[in-house]
Amino acid sequence: MHKIAYPLIGLLLISCSSSNKNNSTGLTPVPPPNQSQIIIERDYPRVSYTEVPGLKTLAEFSIGMEVQAGDEERSLFEVVDQQPLLRQHFSEVVPGNIMKMSFLHPEENVFTFDDADRLVDFALANNMTVHGHTLIWWHLEQLPEWMKNYTGDWNAMMHDHVYQIVSHFKGLVHSWDVVNEAVAVTDISSTGKATGATYYDSIFYQKMGEEFIENAFKSAREADPDALLYYNDWALSHNDAKLDFTLAMVNDFLARSIPIDGIGFQMHTWLEWPSITDIKAAFTKAAATGLMIKITEMDMRINSSFLAQRPNFRPALQLTPELALTQKDRYKAIVAAYLEAVPPAQRGGITFWGLIDGETWMQHVLPYPEWPLLFNDDYTVKPAFYGVAEALTGH
Ligand code: XIL
Repeated sequence: MHKIAYPLIGLLLISCSSSNKNNSTGLTPVPPPNQSQIIIERDYPRVSYTEVPGLKTLAEFSIGMEVQAGDEERSLFEVVDQQPLLRQHFSEVVPGNIMKMSFLHPEENVFTFDDADRLVDFALANNMTVHGHTLIWWHLEQLPEWMKNYTGDWNAMMHDHVYQIVSHFKGLVHSWDVVNEAVAVTDISSTGKATGATYYDSIFYQKMGEEFIENAFKSAREADPDALLYYNDWALSHNDAKLDFTLAMVNDFLARSIPIDGIGFQMHTWLEWPSITDIKAAFTKAAATGLMIKITEMDMRINSSFLAQRPNFRPALQLTPELALTQKDRYKAIVAAYLEAVPPAQRGGITFWGLIDGETWMQHVLPYPEWPLLFNDDYTVKPAFYGVAEALTGH
């Protein structure tokens, strides 16, 4: 679509960048742009988000964005210039943090809903749905302190936790990640594939056994029969033992009428891994359950996971035109794989985990820079944006 919509901008940019205005001044000539740069300027120009069609208008399913709110640094109520971008391109918002356990349930008998209420109000006022993330997650960063030391009846306490939160947002939050990351890999082959998987040895598993998962789904359904309930995890798209274990769990739920509506694939991917073949096979296998399949946290690291583990690893220090184009192709291929493997009625949507590269969560966990998202820090679009748009429009 962009090739039709932006030929003039492309030509203009090429002619500007290839003309050498310095010649007449006697200064050193600027080297001509390389081939990838020429392709980007012609086909994937770095224009403002306002100059390209809204991503959400290109899909029949929700296109979501992870957002910060409350007192987070990039709260959309502080950095308000995000708001028109969100409105133009996204039909769903997902709180990156403020609906996690410690934010909503900081003390045993205290629930704090104000920040999340404000976000939900914003979303609904702007015709966006809200995907709640996440009712149960073991991660110590977000597990409430009081819960770590809880000595009472865990099953009753967790029922109350899920029931109170989902009841509060009944009719307002469209879908939930009910349980996040309950499955762990036990063995990995030399090619990086999981060859064994089991339940993650979380505090919930230790206190309640695997039943904590189904109990959470039952409590959520009890609190809001209309909300869609997802099991969400990472590394499912590698199509290995972790996916198979997860699907066995989900199929067992279905066989026993435990309420569950969908499977969330986080899709924190890398430029070179997993393969498109594996990703597509994983979506196909998951879709065979008949459940909704949702890409819940998509981003894409430039630096390869394999290389990053080597002692002489040298991360890319800038997003070169070549890398940007490769990233664009891969975003396109992943979205295309989703569309090919998941029937329309089962598409729960695609959510991106962050708006601009400069705010990716990876900057807090990696010692080198990354550029995993669709927008540059000045809210212009990256080639990756066009890759997603091309896949959605079938071009
Ligand atoms: C991340 C947030 O983006 C960060 O701001 C926070 O510091 C840590 O958590 N999988 C998940 C998300 O399910 O909740 C995580 O979000 C990213 C990995």
